[in-house]
Amino acid sequence: MKDTENGGAGFIAIDAKLPLNRHGFEASRLVLGCMGFGGGWTRDPLTAEHLKQMHEGMDAALSVGINMVDHANIYAFGKAEQVFGQMLKERPGLRDQLVIQSKCGIRWAEREGESNRFDFSKSHILESVDGILSRLGIESLDILLLHRPDPLIEPEEVAEAFEALRSSGKVKRFGVSNMSAGQMRYLQAFLDEPIVANQLELSLTKLDWLDSQVHVNQEAGKLSSFPDGTLEYCRLNHVQIQAWSPLRGLFNVDLGQAEPRVRATDELVGSMAEERGVSKEAIALSFLLRHPARIQPVLGTSRPERIRACAEAMQVELSREEWYKLYVTSRGRPMP
Ligand SMILES: NC(=O)c1ccc[n+]([C@@H]2O[C@H](COP(=O)([O-])OP(=O)(O)OC[C@H]3O[C@@H](n4cnc5c(N)ncnc54)[C@H](OP(=O)(O)O)[C@@H]3O)[C@@H](O)[C@H]2O)c1
Repeated sequence: MKDTENGGAGFIAIDAKLPLNRHGFEASRLVLGCMGFGGGWTRDPLTAEHLKQMHEGMDAALSVGINMVDHANIYAFGKAEQVFGQMLKERPGLRDQLVIQSKCGIRWAEREGESNRFDFSKSHILESVDGILSRLGIESLDILLLHRPDPLIEPEEVAEAFEALRSSGKVKRFGVSNMSAGQMRYLQAFLDEPIVANQLELSLTKLDWLDSQVHVNQEAGKLSSFPDGTLEYCRLNHVQIQAWSPLRGLFNVDLGQAEPRVRATDELVGSMAEERGVSKEAIALSFLLRHPARIQPVLGTSRPERIRACAEAMQVELSREEWYKLYVTSRGRPMP
């Protein structure tokens, strides 16, 4: 427990058993995802309302013990980091209480006729980090993730970029996102520093991360696109697994149009939430929290009341039976 000097903050609940802890970070289990701040995917300038929303979102997160935030240089075309930087400027002292993560490697088309693309070149990584630090108004980023695998990756260049960033103090630790075990193993072979995190899309309704494990050597396994051995690689190597879009597919859908398995999952989640006196978000997130890899869900909502509803997940510990009931209901078919 640690008091903060910043409005709205009561305590910071550190999870000492997180893989990230081994890499020097005292981080909370839940992470505030910042893609929804800064006014979204428009080129309109930031407003006072966006800054107010950022303060309120951060207050809600701090009030429930969340001390880690997830950015990317592309979110809201840079405005998510910018509004976060404006907020930090108004709250001196807050930066040191946070674990700040951002990502680079996705590039929008800059001229007519160009495509959006991925870029892990040394120059692009270095330029991106300068942009991130300047928008956030900080001197050092805690964790930098490579956002999406670039097929043109030259790992020696990535290693040079990481070394330059580490030795200049601009980035403390490095990780990846949306990478398979094979891609991580390959990249790691060129790096002096450990890959500390991998952010993947995992949730109660997007289940390929589990189905790939239970359908080994079976026809049904062909339906799973999750890269074989990725969870195991991360667990063996103390790579923090983070779940992006942990509620998507259940909370932002029109249930009237949804697949029967999603409707059944919503009903089950609702009845379990009622039984325990917690929010539905808490049950959906507790499904991720119960996994022994100690996954960090990255929350997408920017609404204070929903951030608080998500945090109720920390009160829920599912039994094996409950966890499997959720899994089987969401799969929409029995275990093999
Ligand atoms: N690494 C990657 O490639 C990658 C990709 C995507 C996202 N991310 C990261 O992951 C974070 C989370 O992603 P996400 O926004 O897709 O996650 P999410 O937490 O699954 O949220 C998805 C949507 O669900 C809505 N929602 C939440 N609670 C709800 C409720 N009770 N009722 C109805 N709707 C509800 C939210 O809308 P409201 O905002 O209106 O509440 C949000 O737009 C992002 O902020 C970003 O940091 C990473």
